[in-house]
Amino acid sequence: MRRVAIVSGAGRGIGAAIAKALGREGYHVVVNYMKNDAAANAVVEEIRSAGGHADARQADVCDPVAVGELVGSVHEAHGRIDLLVCNANTVDPPFEDFGSLPWERFEEKYVGELAGSYHLTQRALAVMEKQRSGRIVYISSTAADLVGGSIAHATAKAALNVFGRNVAGFAARYGVTVNVIAAGVVDTEATAVAVNEESLRYFKEHTTFSRLVTPEELADAVRMVANDAFGAATGQIIRVDGGLDVLGQQLSISGRWNLPDA
Ligand SMILES: NC(=O)c1ccc[n+]([C@@H]2O[C@H](COP(=O)([O-])OP(=O)(O)OC[C@H]3O[C@@H](n4cnc5c(N)ncnc54)[C@H](OP(=O)(O)O)[C@@H]3O)[C@@H](O)[C@H]2O)c1
Repeated sequence: MRRVAIVSGAGRGIGAAIAKALGREGYHVVVNYMKNDAAANAVVEEIRSAGGHADARQADVCDPVAVGELVGSVHEAHGRIDLLVCNANTVDPPFEDFGSLPWERFEEKYVGELAGSYHLTQRALAVMEKQRSGRIVYISSTAADLVGGSIAHATAKAALNVFGRNVAGFAARYGVTVNVIAAGVVDTEATAVAVNEESLRYFKEHTTFSRLVTPEELADAVRMVANDAFGAATGQIIRVDGGLDVLGQQLSISGRWNLPDA
């Protein structure tokens, strides 16, 4: 029996890396995307040429009808859904200051972030309920705990974290685990566009390895959470940020008294 995973927004960036890693792991991977057929098909091709199994499915994950069709067709084709990864970056973060940020832009980000996870979760969980097993993973961001970036993005990701913990409480009765992976700053095209040089330098300097997190490292975290051996953990927010949280919170360089000499 081949396990089946749906990864939303898997045509590019982090989602593409997750899809490829799950393909290597032996899953049949459903590569969901919004409009870029060529990118999604390239991911499928890469998985297949490495001996894996995958297909690309276009669906707007914010649209409940499209999500119903997506999950319904996957269930019909494979008879099961073992893993759902809600990753799609449905709305790019607006970066205006709060004073000049129109409510509509805030609302679009907040609602778009949650809609993409809400509809997929509700539909996939109905399948997992019948199986009495399954794994759900949300790709959130350490931005949820930061002040001074995008207020809409931070609020939306913080809401996603709380949503994930509540779904975990609900899904436990079906033997389904639900966890959130909070990514630090990841080396993707989206990051290159959204983050300026100075901020990138700061983020790199405040990780343990003086670079951004890679999409492949995020994919490794998803594989870990999806693994049977990780079944005892649910409702957790797992930070994968290269140490940005702890290193960024140090009061000063003199606070590094317990680090070995460079
Ligand atoms: N990049 C970072 O540094 C970073 C840091 C922390 C957290 N994250 C989170 O990680 C996730 C992925 O980020 P990313 O940077 O890899 O994103 P990305 O490069 O912008 O990729 C977005 C993907 O989502 C798809 N998509 C967009 N709207 C969709 C919709 N409504 N329905 C279905 N698919 C949709 C796109 O499809 P098309 O290709 O068809 O357009 C594309 O495949 C996001 O949740 C993001 O918030 C990213």
